[in-house]
Amino acid sequence: MEYTEQVMDHFMNPRNMGEMENADGVGTVGNAKCGDIMRIYIKVEDNVITDVKFKTFGCGAAIATSSKATELVKGKTIDEALTITNKMVMDALGGLPPVKVHCSVLAEEALHAAIQDYKDRLEKGEKPASEEDEEVRYV
Ligand code: FES
Repeated sequence: MEYTEQVMDHFMNPRNMGEMENADGVGTVGNAKCGDIMRIYIKVEDNVITDVKFKTFGCGAAIATSSKATELVKGKTIDEALTITNKMVMDALGGLPPVKVHCSVLAEEALHAAIQDYKDRLEKGEKPASEEDEEVRYV
């Protein structure tokens, strides 16, 4: 299996890795087959994603795709961020081996879940997300 230089770079030096206190939205998804789990946190100001962090318990491609996804989404509006697909993440990394495509799907799903969480909280007027009430949704 061959990984591109970009994949290796994001795996070795992940961008925006870590947790976020008082995130405006958190999304956690897992893949039922491989068991890998990805969590993305977003901070939103005036409809723009001003900060983003990720925590991934998973393979190298999962770490690289979450890192790339956070890079792509920073500074985007909510609507722009929702157009980011796993294909865009893969393309930005110069591609992934076929057996690793599902890792990029996790990145898209975690990002979209974080945005959905933000929207739900906004609608219900709920406080920022906390780690305790975060559940994994398997995709
Ligand atoms: Fe499942 Fe990479 S092997 S996310």
